[in-house]
Amino acid sequence: MAESMSGYTRSHRCTEVLNAQLGESVVLMGWVNRRRNLGSLIFVDLRDRTGLIQLLFDENNIGEEGFRKAETLRNEFVIAVRGLVQKREGAVNESLPTGEIEIKVLELRILSEALTPPFPIEEDSQTKDELRLKYRYLDLRRPDLQKNIILRSKVAQSVRNFMSSEGFIEIETPMLCKSTPEGARDYLVPSRVHPGSFYALPQSPQLFKQLLMCAGYDRYYQIAKCFRDEDLRADRQPEFTQIDMEFSFANADTVMETNERLIAHVFKEILDVDVELPIPRMTWQEAMDRFGSDKPDTRFGMELVDVTNCVKNCGFGVFSGPAGTEGSSVRGINAKGMVDMPRKKIDALVDYVKGIGAKGLAWLGLNEDGTYKSSFAKFMSEEELAELVREMGAEKGDLMFFAADVDKIVYASLGALRLELGAQMGLIDENKFNFLWVTEFPLLEYSDEQQRWVAMHHPFTMPLESDIGYLETEPWKAKAAAYDIVLNGVELGGGSERIYNPEIQEKMFAALGFTPEEAYDRFGFLLDAFKYGVPPHAGLAYGFDRLMMLMTKADSIRDVIAFPKVKDASCLMTGAPSPVDGKQLEELEIQLNLTETEE
Ligand code: AMO
Ligand code: AMP
Repeated sequence: MAESMSGYTRSHRCTEVLNAQLGESVVLMGWVNRRRNLGSLIFVDLRDRTGLIQLLFDENNIGEEGFRKAETLRNEFVIAVRGLVQKREGAVNESLPTGEIEIKVLELRILSEALTPPFPIEEDSQTKDELRLKYRYLDLRRPDLQKNIILRSKVAQSVRNFMSSEGFIEIETPMLCKSTPEGARDYLVPSRVHPGSFYALPQSPQLFKQLLMCAGYDRYYQIAKCFRDEDLRADRQPEFTQIDMEFSFANADTVMETNERLIAHVFKEILDVDVELPIPRMTWQEAMDRFGSDKPDTRFGMELVDVTNCVKNCGFGVFSGPAGTEGSSVRGINAKGMVDMPRKKIDALVDYVKGIGAKGLAWLGLNEDGTYKSSFAKFMSEEELAELVREMGAEKGDLMFFAADVDKIVYASLGALRLELGAQMGLIDENKFNFLWVTEFPLLEYSDEQQRWVAMHHPFTMPLESDIGYLETEPWKAKAAAYDIVLNGVELGGGSERIYNPEIQEKMFAALGFTPEEAYDRFGFLLDAFKYGVPPHAGLAYGFDRLMMLMTKADSIRDVIAFPKVKDASCLMTGAPSPVDGKQLEELEIQLNLTETEE
């Protein structure tokens, strides 16, 4: 039977009792974490978000009725107790901060009873994700998730303090928007008042923050919800949070310098980690050439080596073909000391890169006795092999892997293989936080899906000053004044200097294949705004969830989001998305046209 709390005011949270005096009377409330019944004594670990404290129920203190009530306690009951702080009568529990004390309970109230939870509320739960997410409110009781969610709040606070001290103003921007151009699919919201018209949920506050610069707010920031209808991965959610900012009268250097101090501030304050400044910078081209990735994990080496020239005239067609073709190359990585890797494992790696789009993966090992172990040695002469080994800087005991294809595929396959091998070989120091700026991204990238050039960042990104000339001639050669901040191989954030000159913006739209009318239709309000006096501006946005994932060393951003969605973008707890009433659709003048299987 649930009792009321009347007359009871909580005096401390569970571990705050450490601040109380021995003998002090306290009122505590929380969940029964565990109950041990020793006959004449009952011990209960009481839990709240601060941790655990031991309660001692002894019939001599609480009386017979109270003791009977204590006997009915089960895990996850919510209770209130009044009692006295005392040194533990039994053994000290070294593993608990409150392990030396306990509460001698004088009065107990059961505020709420609980069914047996479908899984234990404990750290490192082995429970399947589906069950955890269905009962997320129970999952969120687990100490490791509570730690993450509370840390997230602290980081948000730390960010706000820093931004405020640097003169940034926090401004909210709309959720019901016109489509924004971040490149993913929009989530649409039908308008009842304007049947047939739709709002888009913002993929980011990009256009609004630029308009705020136009409007003279000088420096803006926001911890903003963003929505992107894209395929989910471990570091992606359909709705996620950005730490978003924009600076007036600033260039890339100002943005990067300020953000380095922001990062150092947050990591020091929250994790007591010293981030060495300045954060290293690397151009996109260098990142691709050395790591096969625009978000390199620099915690270990095993860098790519370009062997194109070396194999141009060799007898192995798989190599010499691409080596002689513009825009293609042959590159390798050297897995040091791995020559004894079993054939099965090598084959698995070959399949792995094939999954990424490679036609194959050639390999060459140097046995200790000087012989080769290889998928292609028979196609090459002794001299050609020796030359290749020299070029790779390989020694006896090493195992090399080569990809030959168009650059894009070579980078993608070796970049992924490097990460896979780095993990398999234990080369990654999990205690490191390696930050990196990647700069000078290409302005455009070719979209195979859309069969046209699209903005790699977004259409308002300024080309490097030296490359503006390319816009009208060979726009694919232009580099952007854009930068990403990378942490341990994860793209943490990205930003750019913005185009604020209408002529350059028009050229950019033309390069993207928009007619002036199309550009005006989509972004007219921004183009108009830029005719009324606009400061040069630049900005950046972090993926806040990704930042938290890395700061807490979680495997997935789900573990740092209170109510995340699963791979198919549904919420297992609420059942969203779900069908709606016919009446609701009628009001929106929407008729469904579902195929049989979806109905
Ligand atoms: P961008 O599109 O690079 O830039 O996004 C910024 C950062 O947001 C994070 N992110 C995501 N996190 C979780 N789930 C997702 N689906 C997801 N998509 C992106 C990434 C990414 O680096 N308006 C620009 C910023 C600017 O130019 O100022 C923008 O949104 O960590
Ligand atoms: P094949 O001549 O097709 O038997 O290939 C010989 C070796 O070259 C095999 O180990 C293939 O996996 C590898 N290979 C095939 N295509 C490529 C490629 N594009 N890049 C690297 N290795 C390849």
